[in-house]
Amino acid sequence: MKFKALKGVQDILPGEIDKWEYLEDCAKEQFSLYGFNQIKIPVIEETGLFVRSIGQQTDIVEKEMYSFVDRGKREISLRPEATASVVRAYLEHNLTQLGVAKLYYIGPMFRGEKPQSGRNRQFYQMGIEALGSYDPYFDAEVITLAVEYLTEIGIKNFDLVLNTVGCSHDKAAYAKLLKTYLKTEEKSLCENCQNRLERNVLRVLDCKNPNCKKVIHSAPIINDHLCSECNDHFKSVKQYLDLSGIAYNLSPYLVRGLDYYTKTVFEITHQGLGSQNAICAGGRYDNLIKDMGGLAQGATGFAFGIERLLLAASAEEIVFPIQKKTVIYAIGLGEDNCKELFKIVAVLRRKKNCVINGFEQKSLKAHMKQSHKLGSDITLILGEEEFKDNCILIRDMQSGEQEKVKLNEVVAILEKKIKNKV
Ligand code: HAM
Repeated sequence: MKFKALKGVQDILPGEIDKWEYLEDCAKEQFSLYGFNQIKIPVIEETGLFVRSIGQQTDIVEKEMYSFVDRGKREISLRPEATASVVRAYLEHNLTQLGVAKLYYIGPMFRGEKPQSGRNRQFYQMGIEALGSYDPYFDAEVITLAVEYLTEIGIKNFDLVLNTVGCSHDKAAYAKLLKTYLKTEEKSLCENCQNRLERNVLRVLDCKNPNCKKVIHSAPIINDHLCSECNDHFKSVKQYLDLSGIAYNLSPYLVRGLDYYTKTVFEITHQGLGSQNAICAGGRYDNLIKDMGGLAQGATGFAFGIERLLLAASAEEIVFPIQKKTVIYAIGLGEDNCKELFKIVAVLRRKKNCVINGFEQKSLKAHMKQSHKLGSDITLILGEEEFKDNCILIRDMQSGEQEKVKLNEVVAILEKKIKNKV
């Protein structure tokens, strides 16, 4: 029987991995420049953690979680996102003592969505969370970090969309107001939005259906119904962003699909992607730490989707400056020569060179073909003739030039050549 990967999940093959590592390494560097430290959190958690934090009536919890009962009859889910787990770990390990705990994570998330370009069932996020402050400075800092990261990796055609959903009081009062208005237009809404009216009315605001959009266009907007504290907070966030020189578009219709958000919310969309165009998203969640059993503490963060970052980079035809190590392919023709070459290869590797052995007993032609196929930079050839002269051949794969050098000098000569290549 032939097995295939499940729908909506993908293998990341050796040819692509350099790009993934480049994106992750740049992110680690950028996150640590802002004082964020890495945390590794589990892929599985109690289902209740996600239900409580993301919200019972969200699409993720209602339709998309991979949940199961384990042998110990525990209700478990594969994590659909990481914010809830980071908050759980923050409280479980008392990281509250850090003052503002600045944490980042990189890893797979799981959502049973309908797969399409940029939408997978297993996808990877790189995210940060700043836990322990209500200060608008942190909202601006995480947004600035996201934009600086995109600039660092060379992505240009993106838009930062910004909004506030207010505190929980503002949000609840606005939801009521919005519902009253939408009820008067209920017949014009799509079936999905008619359902959302009762369950999660704010989500009607980001419906893409043209009829719903028309109705929404005349709806009251949250920004006109904020308390003075939320108003001031949003003003400060915008001021800080202006000070950082970060351009943003305001949209009263951005509400996000997870219930824990309060005040600032944002998304970074890319112009080269289709309908799944958010490459990064996040915002403030000032009630989550308390809801999870901690003291009242503010928090904010975001997550990038790595697959979508790669799609965006490819849409802009960005070639990442990936530094490749010089690859040496070492061919030993015959058993005795292989043994001699084995010693040289060991020394080269000890000196941190990348060497692929070509010790299988096949023809020189077949080995050269393999060396080309692997994209090696240098091929070493030790055959009968060279061995008789106590020598070895060094072939530069790009120029095709070949030189015969003494066996006891080959390591030093190669190291010099590699240094000159870099
Ligand atoms: P989210 O908007 O659900 O937010 O996901 C963040 C990013 O993950 C999206 O902008 C997108 O790039 C990527 N993403 C989401 N779903 C998929 C999918 N099915 N396939 C591929 N990529 C996907 C969160 O997860 C929040 N935890 C972010 C956050 C952190 N808010 C505060 N702190």
